[in-house]
Amino acid sequence: MQSINKTLSLLLTLVFVYSAGFVLSGRNNVLAADPNTFNRLLKKNKVRNPAPPKDGIHNIQSDGTYILQPPLEAFKKLPKSRAGNYVDWVKALKMKKIQPRYDKNDPKVKPIIMDLNIIREVKGSMPDVVYPHAQHTEWLDCSNCHPAIFIPQKGANQMSMASILLGKQCGVCHGKVAFPVTASTCRTCHSKAKKPKKSAKNKNVSAVKK
Ligand code: HEC
Ligand code: HEC
Ligand code: HEC
Repeated sequence: MQSINKTLSLLLTLVFVYSAGFVLSGRNNVLAADPNTFNRLLKKNKVRNPAPPKDGIHNIQSDGTYILQPPLEAFKKLPKSRAGNYVDWVKALKMKKIQPRYDKNDPKVKPIIMDLNIIREVKGSMPDVVYPHAQHTEWLDCSNCHPAIFIPQKGANQMSMASILLGKQCGVCHGKVAFPVTASTCRTCHSKAKKPKKSAKNKNVSAVKK
């Protein structure tokens, strides 16, 4: 626990540096709050899933904005999650509560799902990251990630939490169009408990065992 706290405070410092830059550069005049609520220094949305005219994303001068169905109404019947827009989209797809078209012009096109997990070992006490190709290729094409975001070779890409929070790597989507980084989502990515080390001296190991 101690070391998780240390990690959190280190990350918060990094995030502080980032958000200070954000304020200084004057880019914080957007209404939409940063969904990565893990960043406690940025304002949180007071209302969950606000209606399009109030979400700070849609153009309030456009008539179209007022005829869109408000998300709260549309999401009512979908399985819940604890962050982002509070919908578990992976589950919603699995339960066939939503059946999005893979190809906008052809309703018959089905995705080619690749079932390959990539395990990224994490230094320190956090559990390792499991990147699942299956849950991503249900919605996304290989070319959404390869090669612009990730070289398709295990271990070839340098990744870190700081750059994810800055909107790179996983952060190109997570915190924008997929679930954000919040205290309740760490374990969704960091899902693989580390094997206990043989050395009896390593006291941190018991803390990460699930
Ligand atoms: C959402 C992003 C994303 C999508 C979409 C995606 N991948 Fe990947 N892929 C990754 C990541 C992340 C890695 C791991 C890279 C690393 O470890 O540095 C990876 C690794 C790979 C690897 C290397 C495996 C190994 O063992 O070295 C291959 C091959 C690959 N992807 C092929 C594909 C193919 C084919 C598709 C489409 C069917 C696809 N990927 C879709 C993110 C993605
Ligand atoms: C969207 C997926 C995702 C989420 C959510 C996430 N992480 Fe990470 N995390 C990663 C990836 C990817 C790495 C890089 C792993 C590697 O080195 O290959 C990482 C690395 C780390 C590291 C190692 C040091 C560093 O900064 O890179 C720590 C510590 C960490 N994460 C803590 C957290 C905590 C705490 C949370 C929750 C507040 C969290 N992570 C949420 C994907 C995620
Ligand atoms: C191109 C966009 C994109 C990138 C890049 C991306 N993801 Fe995702 N990810 C998604 C989408 C879309 C979903 C499904 C919607 C959701 O769960 O919010 C998803 C879902 C997930 C899930 C949930 C699986 C489940 O069973 O609920 C995990 C875990 C995950 N991503 C980890 C990662 C990690 C780790 C990385 C970086 C190595 C990454 N993603 C990069 C778009 C992306």
